[in-house]
Amino acid sequence: MSAWADNIRKVVPYVPGEQPKDSSVIKLNTNENPYPPAPGVVKALQELDASSFRLYPDPSASVLVDAIAEVYGVGQNQVFVGVGSDDVLAMAFLTCFNSGKPILFPDITYSFYDVWADLLRIPYEVQPLDDEFKIRPKDYKKENGGIVFPNPNAPTGIFMPLDTVEEIVRANSDVIVIVDEAYIDFGGASARKLLPQYDNLLIAQTLSKSRSMAGMRIGFLLGNPQLIRFINDCKYSFNSYTMSRASILLGAEAVRDRQYFYECTQKIIQTRERAKGQFCKLGFSCSNSMGNFLFVSHPKYPAARLFKALKKAGIYVRHFRTPERISNYLRVTVGTDEEMDALFRFWNNICQTIGVIDVKKIYVHFSDFHGPFGGIAGGNPGFPAAGASDCAVLYCLHYWKYAPGANYIPVCEKDARMGGR
Ligand SMILES: Cc1ncc(COP(=O)(O)O)c(C=O)c1O
Repeated sequence: MSAWADNIRKVVPYVPGEQPKDSSVIKLNTNENPYPPAPGVVKALQELDASSFRLYPDPSASVLVDAIAEVYGVGQNQVFVGVGSDDVLAMAFLTCFNSGKPILFPDITYSFYDVWADLLRIPYEVQPLDDEFKIRPKDYKKENGGIVFPNPNAPTGIFMPLDTVEEIVRANSDVIVIVDEAYIDFGGASARKLLPQYDNLLIAQTLSKSRSMAGMRIGFLLGNPQLIRFINDCKYSFNSYTMSRASILLGAEAVRDRQYFYECTQKIIQTRERAKGQFCKLGFSCSNSMGNFLFVSHPKYPAARLFKALKKAGIYVRHFRTPERISNYLRVTVGTDEEMDALFRFWNNICQTIGVIDVKKIYVHFSDFHGPFGGIAGGNPGFPAAGASDCAVLYCLHYWKYAPGANYIPVCEKDARMGGR
């Protein structure tokens, strides 16, 4: 490598969920809102004067800041806005976590936190969630350089009651505690009401999820005026014009429409609760998520294989290979009722099979398939032989396909009840 490479800042970047080009995909992988933004956003977009784009936007984004301050009942000087909550969180890390002491966050959480910490050279220590994937407040009562956690947590969706949030904020009055409320609008209670009591509390929210504005990139922080001023100083030392004219105007419209916001989030909550029941019926473990996503695992069917089979069927969900503890889970964004029905039709097919056979033991080479009970490949190299009786059952239910490489992927080509049994 060239000598200059020694002086390059090297980081392992965050990997966002896939954005497929094919619009027919059922996209349940990045926690987007399945419904369009508020009607006022559409109207404002149509009325947008393109000739104004030659001018720089308002650096203080005051139209948007005012709308947020009004809707959330805080002062304008308590609001910091930016290009999605990723931007405002990164700016908060840069501004607030400078003591040289390790910051604390859960071991299973939003996977951008360690990336920002590494990028900004902030030391950190992850705190393990308990066996039920809950944050243990006692882990956040040691000396530290700051704290950050999502509430509800991601990707589990588990919500921490406000009194526990307060316990952590109160125990850490000499550092900044950031509560990332990206998913708070889907049933949780915001820590906003703690702001008057705790000057070390900083809340991050986004318009990406509950307000259907992920593509516009709008997020904000709420905190005490002095802290917000410090964060603004850092922002203005980096880039004065982070938000475009369009996102300032359209973001303000999205925030103002409280009725549409309420209806939209309620629809998602109802679909989520229905989906929880359906997952449980199919034998999945399903966390009591308070986000717009579910975190599910099946005791018999490996998540990695399910992920691939779903993708092949045109249904995208999220699978995290690390940390190891969650490698057998899938995070499924709550879509429309119709999208969820399509997902459950697929699960039903797969799970019927799981109920009869152990998928880990049976591998059938698709090209060896010659008829309902013939052509069983019992000896694919490196894989256990399939027992004839198991395969007979398998043939009754599904075709399976051999995929090149190390993985064998079950594919429901169709529900192949081919007579016989
Ligand atoms: C916990 C959490 N925080 C923050 C974000 C960032 O959201 P955005 O940058 O779209 O506002 C996400 C995105 O998925 C998230 O899951």
